[in-house]
Parts: sequence; C-alpha cells; structure tokens
Amino acid sequence: MRYDLDQVPEAIAYKLLAATVIPRPIAWVVTQGAQGVNGAPYSFFNVMGSAPPTVALGLMAAPGRGFKDTALNILETGEFVVNLVPERLVAAMNLTSADAPRGVDELALAGLAVLPSAHVVPPRIADSPVAFECRALSSVVTGPCQTVVIGRVLAVHIDDAYLKNPERAHVDTDALDLVARSFGAEYIRTHDRFDLPRPTWAGLKAEGKV
Ligand SMILES: Cc1cc2nc3c(=O)[nH]c(=O)nc-3n(C[C@H](O)[C@H](O)[C@H](O)COP(=O)(O)O)c2cc1C
Repeated sequence: MRYDLDQVPEAIAYKLLAATVIPRPIAWVVTQGAQGVNGAPYSFFNVMGSAPPTVALGLMAAPGRGFKDTALNILETGEFVVNLVPERLVAAMNLTSADAPRGVDELALAGLAVLPSAHVVPPRIADSPVAFECRALSSVVTGPCQTVVIGRVLAVHIDDAYLKNPERAHVDTDALDLVARSFGAEYIRTHDRFDLPRPTWAGLKAEGKV
C-alpha cells in the first residue's frame, strides 16, 4: 500500500505518521503570554543537537481556534519550559491537554505547583523530575496555524534523586520512570530496553568484517 499524503484526508496522514513514529517523548510545555501561564503536552518533540543544545516541538493548529496557546505564546515571547513526564504524573499531564479556553491556567486546573525559572519568564512544573528552560532559535510556520519551533536549551533542572553521579551527569533512567506517547490514548513505559554497542570502523577491521 502506498499513501500519497497530498491525496488523502489530513486525518489519515496524521494516523499514518503518529501510529508509526512511536514511541514519542512528551514535552509538557509551560509558556507565559499576555493571558498568563499555560501548560500543555506535546509529543511531536525531540532533542535536535547538543552544540548548541536544541530541542524541537511540532505544534499543530487547534481545530477552529487557530494557533494553539502554546504556539501563540512561543511566537510572541520566544520562551518556553519543557517538563518531562513520569508515570505518576500522567493523569495531571492528560488533564492539561484539555481544549480549555484561552487564558485558562491548565497547571492550576490540574493542581500543579510551579517554580520560577532562572533564564526565562515561564515557570517549571515543581513535581516534574526534569525541566529544560528554552529560548526559541527559530520557528517555521509549516501550514495554516501549524508551526515547528526549535529551541535552545539554556538550563536543565534535574532532581538530585535521579542523578547517580552529578559530576559526570549519570542519570538514573529507571528511577525517572518517564512515559512516551504511542497512538491515541496509548502510552509506552521506558523500562523495556536493551544494549546494542555501536560498531567502529577500526573494530570492524579488527574482526575482519571490512
Ligand atoms: C500526550 C499528548 C501529546 C500531544 N502532543 C501534541 C503535539 O505534539 N502537537 C499538538 O499540536 N498537540 C498535541 N497534543 C494536544 C495538545 O496538548 C492539546 O491540543 C492542548 O489543548 C493544547 O493546549 P494549548 O492550546 O494550551 O497549547 C497532545 C496531547 C497529549 C495528551
């Protein structure tokens, strides 16, 4: 089967992409604009580089409402905080995805406390084990009220409880217990992992494989 995506309804394109590109990490994004603090989850999210450290977010249009609040706030202020989501916070995260009217502070709605950021105006979610303070490097409007934001990560906050060795930045991945998004209402845990050492050209030569 081949789907030419300019020939199919948008919902089909979304399904094909979102059900195959899994698992997707979840950026629980806090922004602050003229209407106040805003929080919402975004799983079109990943790390894009480390020099400088960058992340990208994909913000689709809000049906019938134009840009989503997160997109509007980032386009206006250039600032956002990405909080990561452990399983214990999934219900609160999900609540903040509701299509609340503009100006509603979804974090307050979900009973979440916030802490001030060091470099940007939007706060971070106090209970989240990891937060990235970000400033937009670039935003590309990729469609009607749809945008991709590339942000430079200015600071990483990580709860000491999740660092095995702070000097060497060894993170206790199991203790973090982060969740990722699958498709629709399905989520994926991050405990089922396996090792696969990367080959080097010298190693392959030594083994007579090249
Ligand atoms: C786990 C999860 C991941 C989501 N990922 C995205 C995403 O990547 N892009 C997007 O446009 N909406 C995504 N949504 C939907 C938004 O969270 C939702 O539209 C929300 O109301 C937007 O809020 P805002 O207008 O306050 O930014 C996701 C929802 C959930 C529950």
